[in-house]
Amino acid sequence: MAEYTLKVTTGDMKYAGTMDHLYVILCGTEGKSERTKLDNLMIHFQSGKTRTYSVKTKSSLGKLLIVKVEKDPRFGLPEDEWFCSRIVVTTQNGEEVVFPCYRWISRGEKVELRGGKAMKVFEDVHPLQIEHREDELRLRKSLYQWEMGDGKLLQLSQFRAISELPAEIRFSASKSEEMSFKKRIIGYELMFKRLVGSKKQWKNLKDMKKFFQTKKTTMSEYVSKHWDEDDFFGFQYLNGPNPNVIKLCKKLPSNFPVEEMVRDFLPRGSTLEMEMEKGNIFLVDQKIMDGIPTRMDDGRACFISSGFCLFYMNPDKKLVPLAIQLRQQHSEQNPIFLPDDPLTDWVLAKLFFNSSDLVLYQAVYHLMKTHYLAEVFTVATLRCFPSIHPLYKLLFPHFRYTLHINILAREFLLGPGGAMSQSSCGVDGLMELMRRAQSDMTYSSLCLPENIKARGLNSVPDFYYRDDGLKLWSHINSYVKSMVEYFYPSDSVVCDDTELQEWIHEIFTHGFLENKLAGFPASFGTVAEVIKFITMVIFIVSVQHAAVNNGQFDYHGWTPNGSLLLHTSPPTIKGLSSMGTFLEALPNEGETVNFAASAFVLSSKYTDKVPLGEYPEELFDESDPKRMIKEFQAELSYLKEEIKARNTRLKVPYTYLSPDEIENSVSI
Ligand code: FE2
Repeated sequence: MAEYTLKVTTGDMKYAGTMDHLYVILCGTEGKSERTKLDNLMIHFQSGKTRTYSVKTKSSLGKLLIVKVEKDPRFGLPEDEWFCSRIVVTTQNGEEVVFPCYRWISRGEKVELRGGKAMKVFEDVHPLQIEHREDELRLRKSLYQWEMGDGKLLQLSQFRAISELPAEIRFSASKSEEMSFKKRIIGYELMFKRLVGSKKQWKNLKDMKKFFQTKKTTMSEYVSKHWDEDDFFGFQYLNGPNPNVIKLCKKLPSNFPVEEMVRDFLPRGSTLEMEMEKGNIFLVDQKIMDGIPTRMDDGRACFISSGFCLFYMNPDKKLVPLAIQLRQQHSEQNPIFLPDDPLTDWVLAKLFFNSSDLVLYQAVYHLMKTHYLAEVFTVATLRCFPSIHPLYKLLFPHFRYTLHINILAREFLLGPGGAMSQSSCGVDGLMELMRRAQSDMTYSSLCLPENIKARGLNSVPDFYYRDDGLKLWSHINSYVKSMVEYFYPSDSVVCDDTELQEWIHEIFTHGFLENKLAGFPASFGTVAEVIKFITMVIFIVSVQHAAVNNGQFDYHGWTPNGSLLLHTSPPTIKGLSSMGTFLEALPNEGETVNFAASAFVLSSKYTDKVPLGEYPEELFDESDPKRMIKEFQAELSYLKEEIKARNTRLKVPYTYLSPDEIENSVSI
């Protein structure tokens, strides 16, 4: 006779409890228990509660390996999903084995939990372990499949609707309620009832400002006051939501002949060549936008800038625009705009340039290079690593809610009437843009230290995205290094882990479309390669996403600073524009409300967010990984204080990469 004590913990989120009947079977190396009912007097499995049970067997089960959990309905009651956090089993000898679960369980689902230490494929030797591992992966591969694409853009999961998502990866009930996309967008819009669907043009910017009085942030208010200042225009390309496109300029593009035109804006005696030599000249080149199909608007194709903006880091350490050209080909109909042009010409040039940058940033740097890449990493992880694998335990918390939010984005942002589909490019243009970005994407561009170096931005002053981002990269890298070296003491262990090799191969095939020339690995030969790749994965889904996501409303709630849609084309002759020309270009009242509502919902904070480095789900049973997590958290905590102190000294604080503002995963 043997007796096992079970401590069963229900999650502490809303609706985590269940009134259904629950059963367990304990499986060990020497046998298994009877299917044992866990008494549930309706109140036993309430949110946040731990209940203790006992399971008796005729003899010892040997080393405990698996706990099988089943949930059956109570007569006549509707489905009542249960969120089981974990089951801790104590044997007669006092040995404790933790079986992490941390997932929703529906009726009829047979959930089998592996307990104890993390195990790689070749470490599982007992037939029960091997069988369980194979069964879990077989099931996952049938549940999570790649949607075949056109071969030019990374592949996503096959899910089309939230209802198709397995319970284990859906939003919690509280997050769903809080963030019911459509409801929130409609709720926001209703505050401006008069404006919803209004096709009226804005009469003046004062009216627009009134509209923003009820929904604003400190930063959105700052933007609405300073949007037309040149040094703020430049500041955004370093510390706004798209710090990804600016580069040091050492040679002017031949189709942007501004050398003589900008001399007056440089210190007396200096030339553009001299300033380029000193490293003070920067460029944003929108070549990727050239020839992108645009949406029809009132019978005319929308205009989207595909030009250049040249910037100068002036002696006051302010980055200011020197010249803007809105198309690639220089011609008389495509003038180069300068800061001393008539005011509305210059303001219009900045509006058209910024608006194109906004479309590019939302489609490529936000949607594709964080949300969609995160989906690739999520699907590959679910398909290739069983939950007992150390890298599943390391990575899975960084994919929380990603598939769910991406399905919502496809439905509500890219779907009919969504903010992205209403943009100047429309869905077809955005897809083409992403295809071009995919073919340009390199492994090094996804790794921040190499990215910054390649763009020549290492010594630019007051570049807080870079400063905070590089520190975060370094902390993530140290954490990943300690974890990976603990589980992979030598390169040969990396080579022997067939699941790890399959994981990187799936990412290489479905995410990077086998683009070896771009430096993406198809397999891993060394521990160092694994560390670098996993650092990149965690950085992209947490830090990089926060950098491009969190400032959406701050910077783009106020459409004069850049809009997804503009109704007119830029002036081809200087000196003819007026404030009326500027207002005509802006989205109408109804469109402004739609764009602002979407940006607001997507930049909002939700109560069940998990900040970077927090792991409320204790997936590791070993003491070393637990210690490494604590060390990582301590580093992030110091950095948070450092950033807070720095921000008190800044006129415009950069908060997007404070560790407490970064989520562990792409979940919004
Ligand atoms: Fe996002």
